[in-house]
Amino acid sequence: MMDRDQLKAKDLQYIVHTYNRYDIVIDHAKGAVLTDMDGRDFYDLCSGYGANSLGYGDPEWLAAVTEQLSKVQHTSNLYYSEPGVRLAEKLVTRSGLCKVWFANSGGEANEAAIKTARKYGNTLADHRKNTIISLKKSFHGRTLATVTATGLAEAQDVFAPLVPGFIHAEVDDIAQLKALTEEHDPCAFIMELVQGEGGVHALDRDFVQAAAELCREKDILFIDDEVQAGIGRTGTLFTYEQYGIMPDIVSFAKGIGAGLPIGGIICGPKTCDVLVPGDHGSTFGMNPVCSAGACAVLDKLDEAFLESVRAKADRLRNALSEMKSVSGLDGLGLMIGIDLIGMSGSEAVGKLMEEGAIAIPAQNRLRLLPPLTISDEELSGVIEVLRKVLD
Ligand SMILES: Cc1ncc(COP(=O)(O)O)c(C=O)c1O
Repeated sequence: MMDRDQLKAKDLQYIVHTYNRYDIVIDHAKGAVLTDMDGRDFYDLCSGYGANSLGYGDPEWLAAVTEQLSKVQHTSNLYYSEPGVRLAEKLVTRSGLCKVWFANSGGEANEAAIKTARKYGNTLADHRKNTIISLKKSFHGRTLATVTATGLAEAQDVFAPLVPGFIHAEVDDIAQLKALTEEHDPCAFIMELVQGEGGVHALDRDFVQAAAELCREKDILFIDDEVQAGIGRTGTLFTYEQYGIMPDIVSFAKGIGAGLPIGGIICGPKTCDVLVPGDHGSTFGMNPVCSAGACAVLDKLDEAFLESVRAKADRLRNALSEMKSVSGLDGLGLMIGIDLIGMSGSEAVGKLMEEGAIAIPAQNRLRLLPPLTISDEELSGVIEVLRKVLD
């Protein structure tokens, strides 16, 4: 077994350096607690960047995954297989939308949403149109098209020339969105209802509803990127439920896999038959092991479970709001963005790590994404650690 220094040196030598890692070597995990190679425990307020929705060692998810793994680990989309069909039925039933297309990641899910919107605008709308409007401070992925859709400038310049046909609108500014719509005649809007990388900001409800109305009026598709905010994270299965809108496409990934790579889009009546054989594909999309695990995730996230997510979020948010260094809270449910007095989000992450919790920054804010299954006892421990740093 490698010691810490050997491992870090080999990581630098053999892995393309696209991540500056924190100085922790994770060895194993249980519940909402990660243990490093030296036996140090950390409360996990990052959840593998929002992916480990059920924490670690969830018995039903583990049973579903291992049972499927011992039956058949992968087929191909050339053949029928049950887990993906069961999963699609659950997603359609619970979303009220019509059909699912499966990928492996959030970036790919949004890429599929963009291709669907482009084909719709180019071939099915009442006139040809293909511009897509996204929001400033948005994050939609790392593929070339999703990097272009992303509204964080630092992510884009070095990869020029980017994909044409994307416009970025101001956050929460409906007058500007209307003006851009008049000027550019878009086929789609894409937005995260709670912007993650942009600072964990929950979009204004009136803005979202007015944008959805504009979509109805002008035959524009509403793409709701729920890769980070979806699958129970904000206290409802889908975040759009809290905004009183019905998107044309919802993209999902991260939490649905509970730590395995799966994502996709759920399409409504206008978009569910846009892509046809030959238009798009993904070798691992609808992988049976990931799909079986995702079915266990959705089975767990029933109304009682979602109520418990909301209760935990209230408890954590109430405790945070009383801490002296906290000047504001944003986000929804267990997707929490914290404005701090006297320290940046990154500084807070460093201090929390010293006290035994891992979290992540989002712009200048501190971001918390605990597992949705975090127990009341674990939450008490988390609040104690947060108090040491923020009170
Ligand atoms: C809102 C949103 N969309 C898309 C992505 C990209 O997902 P992935 O990293 O799985 O490609 C992310 C990842 O953080 C995200 O937060």
